Amino acid sequence: MPSFDVKRLRQALQTRMLGQRCRYFPVLPSTNTTAHLLGRQGEPEGTMVLADAQTGGRGQGSKVWISPPERNLYVSLLLRPSLAPAQGPLISLVAAVALVDTLRQEGIACGIKWPNDVLIHARKVAGILTEMELQGDVVQFVVVGIGVNVNMTPGELDRELGPIAPTATSLQATLGHEMSREVLLASLLGSLEHWYERFCTEGSAPLLEAWQARSLMPGRRVSARTPDALWEGTVVGITQAGHLLLRDVDGAQRTLTSAEVRFLD
Ligand code: BTN
Repeated sequence: MPSFDVKRLRQALQTRMLGQRCRYFPVLPSTNTTAHLLGRQGEPEGTMVLADAQTGGRGQGSKVWISPPERNLYVSLLLRPSLAPAQGPLISLVAAVALVDTLRQEGIACGIKWPNDVLIHARKVAGILTEMELQGDVVQFVVVGIGVNVNMTPGELDRELGPIAPTATSLQATLGHEMSREVLLASLLGSLEHWYERFCTEGSAPLLEAWQARSLMPGRRVSARTPDALWEGTVVGITQAGHLLLRDVDGAQRTLTSAEVRFLD
């Protein structure tokens, strides 16, 4: 499998800003960590950190993001939006909507599991890790990290992911053939730029509507594990801040800011 071809990416890239400044590394501990360092050094908005493999890929809730070489996309974008800290999680929704649009353009049926997993036939194909850098109450920058399982074969998924392989998939496993990671990333960056610019100019309403339209959640029975409780209920929707709204068996409504969600139905 060839290494990532940055020249091919540049040829396919049609964005104004996102990814035009590209820092490519054959291997990194984590593209998110490097993007943070660059953010602190004053790198401009839109800078992209890309790696062909990660040795310490990070997922939600201190999980590991398994990142074998030359198969997948591991990318982090440095954004400098004017946001209140409470709005930071909305950037994850931007990425989730953009990912779904990109995959659907390739003919792949997929949707979003709250907060920001992208699933194909109930299996996770992509994840998003958004991290904010604050100074006091002011957002200095946001790093949005995206991992997409692109060209791992079913055998490689089994080997690399071990016990979690049955919950995961790749685009290769779905389509039965490989995809150009460079063309896919160019398309993803175009979609991300579109939704990010809309969010920055029009606010959260169009984004929340787009997220809901791509969500697999409404009406589903779920369990939701938070650091101090396990909730069960039916999903009502998400709030303006991107939090999950659940109705439990007693009819009480709960708002969860973060949780590990499982489908029960
Ligand atoms: C999740 O679903 O748990 C989030 C996974 C995010 C993985 C990506 S890969 C690129 C970037 N660098 C990291 O260390 N994590 C994110």
